[in-house]
Amino acid sequence: MDNFKLKSNLFFGRDSLCALDDIDDANVIIVCDEFIRKSGMVEKITEHLERCTVHIFDKVVPDPPTEVIAEGINFLSECRADYMIAVGGGSAIDAAKGMAYMAWKSGRHTIKCFYAVPTTSGTGSEVTQFSVITNAEKGMKYPLVDEALQPHVAILDPELVKSMPPNITADTGMDALTHAIESYLSTKSNDFTDALAEKSVTLLMRFLPYAYAHGDDLEAREKVHNAACLAGMSFNMVGLGINHSIAHAIGAKFHIPHGRANALLLPHVIEFNAFLESGTETVAARKMQRLSKLIGLPYSSVPLAVSSLCSKVRDMNRLFGIPDTLAKMDICTENVNAIRREMAEAAMADVCTQTNPRKPELMDIEGIIKRVTGV
Ligand SMILES: [Fe+2]
Repeated sequence: MDNFKLKSNLFFGRDSLCALDDIDDANVIIVCDEFIRKSGMVEKITEHLERCTVHIFDKVVPDPPTEVIAEGINFLSECRADYMIAVGGGSAIDAAKGMAYMAWKSGRHTIKCFYAVPTTSGTGSEVTQFSVITNAEKGMKYPLVDEALQPHVAILDPELVKSMPPNITADTGMDALTHAIESYLSTKSNDFTDALAEKSVTLLMRFLPYAYAHGDDLEAREKVHNAACLAGMSFNMVGLGINHSIAHAIGAKFHIPHGRANALLLPHVIEFNAFLESGTETVAARKMQRLSKLIGLPYSSVPLAVSSLCSKVRDMNRLFGIPDTLAKMDICTENVNAIRREMAEAAMADVCTQTNPRKPELMDIEGIIKRVTGV
């Protein structure tokens, strides 16, 4: 028996922030970073909360560390808000999830309703039961996984992503594409998640380059925003794969943007998942062939379809100025080589590895890290 469950109530398209009008005469906490608070986006939220008491926690930083979560839990316990609104990219939404979850678990405070309002189009965190918290001292990322982490309401307003700069549009968009492809190939994938992932890939291939080049085009922004959410809904049900496992391990050590790490790895992981050591095609390879057909790439044989998909991803990376090695990202290759085994072990232990379509050995992961290191 299998199960497919949609939990978050989704509002999307222009003016979808009006969904906040349902919050009336309430005690509200907004969780964001300092940039979002100063950017005027918080005012766009509070315009809809006229009769509410609003508290703002703006201490979120990228890859939110445990210290920030602890500070946020104290803030939440003191203001005792009933509604939490997380505004920002994946880090703000993940931090808010961590705060709400741990405040509830520790019995300090329970919020009644959690709203997620993403200002980037990538993580899908607004509809997932995952949150990634970082232990900066140990250089480790810890995924929290619990249905209680999933926001009750997600608001996808394209106006909020219009001012996202091109490099962040590219990095976060490639993260979304990796979510869609990895969930499509996941060992747990099914007809329902395949539908979400296929639509997500189609929208991203068509609209991401346009949103990158013409950030103020609201239609392209809306399509990419929706695509990221569709991919989030898909991987929330069936998980991801080693692309994310390795990206988590590399990202924790070298602090490169998560989406950029995924984009760098994606062609190599597609190749690894398509063929066994003997050269035999995997089941995943045949799904890649279907994907290539769907997005208009050459697909007459499995090897041709796989190589077209890899080339397409490489072309997108080139278009977005995403380097194809860590060396080109100004990361010292000697430092990478020194901890390659350690990162590979962390990737093997990552929860995402469990749903990868081809079971990797430690040396396979090391091989992929070696290929993206550069000289
Ligand atoms: Fe991701």
